[in-house]
Amino acid sequence: MTNKTLTQANGAPVTDNDNSLTAGARGPILLQDTWLLEKLAHFDRERIPERVVHAKGSAAFGTFTVTHDITRYTKADIFSEVGKQTDALLRFSTVAGEKGAADAERDVRGFALKFYTDEGNWDLVGNNTPVFFVRDPLKFPDFIHTQKRDPKTNLRSAEAAWDFWSRHPESLHQIVILFSDRGIPTDYRHMNGYGSHTFSFINRDNERFYVKFHFKTQQGHRYYSDDEAAKVMGKTRESAQADLFINIEEGNFPRWDVKVQVMTEAQAEQYQIHPFDITKVWPHGDFPLHDVGVLELNRNPENYFAEVEQAAFTPANVVPGIGYSPDRLLQGRLFSYGDTQRYRLGINHGQLPVNRPKSDVNTSHRDGAMRADGNGGGQPNYAPNHHGSYQPTHDQEPPLKLEKEALHFDFRDYDDDYYTQPGNLYRIMDAGQQQRLVANIVASLGDVKSEQIKRDQLAHFLKVDEKLGKALADALAIEL
Ligand code: HEM
Repeated sequence: MTNKTLTQANGAPVTDNDNSLTAGARGPILLQDTWLLEKLAHFDRERIPERVVHAKGSAAFGTFTVTHDITRYTKADIFSEVGKQTDALLRFSTVAGEKGAADAERDVRGFALKFYTDEGNWDLVGNNTPVFFVRDPLKFPDFIHTQKRDPKTNLRSAEAAWDFWSRHPESLHQIVILFSDRGIPTDYRHMNGYGSHTFSFINRDNERFYVKFHFKTQQGHRYYSDDEAAKVMGKTRESAQADLFINIEEGNFPRWDVKVQVMTEAQAEQYQIHPFDITKVWPHGDFPLHDVGVLELNRNPENYFAEVEQAAFTPANVVPGIGYSPDRLLQGRLFSYGDTQRYRLGINHGQLPVNRPKSDVNTSHRDGAMRADGNGGGQPNYAPNHHGSYQPTHDQEPPLKLEKEALHFDFRDYDDDYYTQPGNLYRIMDAGQQQRLVANIVASLGDVKSEQIKRDQLAHFLKVDEKLGKALADALAIEL
């Protein structure tokens, strides 16, 4: 760093950065010490709202490289040829903890990707699990309230968490994953990532395919037990941040194999498992994984606030060749992320360097707080116009067949098997894994005071697998 003159925000030199301007050596400060005023005022405004969920996070930049041709499924430019490389940003996070929370908590991990493609930014805002706790966006605020602090005690509440879960059997699959060995990854390098929702691919012939994205860690899986995690958290809250930063700094770049499962529209209409239900996976026997490419993280952010805290990921950011699906949870997310970012970062957050696409941005959006680019210059700010500027492509996705009647459909009336898949997961665990699952659930469910909540939850676990339900009842000393 060169030895440059310290300046105020207006670029004028600062005279003294140690002693404020006072009337006499022992006297009070003068209001005309504008450097002092500016310095305090800026400091007073340093904090911005933390993310309403996933507040604690770590990120790194990297490269996505296509290794296999999937152009028969998608025309997305990012996948256009084998060998093509695209810059990416990956932010990992825990869900419930605040910005200063410990990394080694039992929690789902966020796996949020931004691909800076030649046709705009594509964000895939996933988790380290292929399923989720709820499948209707109306449930998300309630669910998160049970994960965050109790309004009165200001403590995390096992009572609230299990009160909610015991009334939502669709959470069981994610609960079994969360309380399994995989519930506390040692760090962010040793875990998989998943897009979780069903998305769509559109190919050059304008055919739609439904897809699920998988990111398989090349580092292998590593997890902490509750006891190990407690010891780690006793020493540091930043175990995963340190691991990621130091490994990348040392040139030990983590990699994930990127794969997709593909379902045709015809298969989606017929398949016995609801293809747009995020609480369920598509069995690999029916829908095998196709290799796509490799994601490598190889560059640490230069500045955490600028490049991680101000990063804004939203599932709404798709590019030609990649689309949404009728998954109702995904549809709620299409609104929520941009909305929270307009509050958290402001209406012009897309212009921040970390969020700015590498391709051209030609919108007719104008003005707004903190507009930081040329604001469209002299280009017309209305359309259509006779200047011929900014034409839409009219490049539509194929028509999406929808049912006609609108109603608040209760999905449980149509689709009530929330037990088979978590049961299958339990049954493929070895004896040790099954015992640890029971112990981890008991460590949390055992804190619940209400006998009714415990019984309601046990009734669900019995339906998942009788052996699991009975083992839990025994461990909780509850007579069935
Ligand atoms: C972050 C809402 C479901 C993964 C967030 C944020 C909101 C939100 C408001 C904060 C974003 C920000 O401040 O920039 C919701 C709603 C959901 C939902 C309303 C359901 C209706 C999910 C699901 C996943 C997920 C199913 C994963 C499959 C994430 C991740 C982040 C996040 C990884 C952190 C993004 C980052 O690193 O900046 N969510 N979420 N969320 N959500 Fe969700």
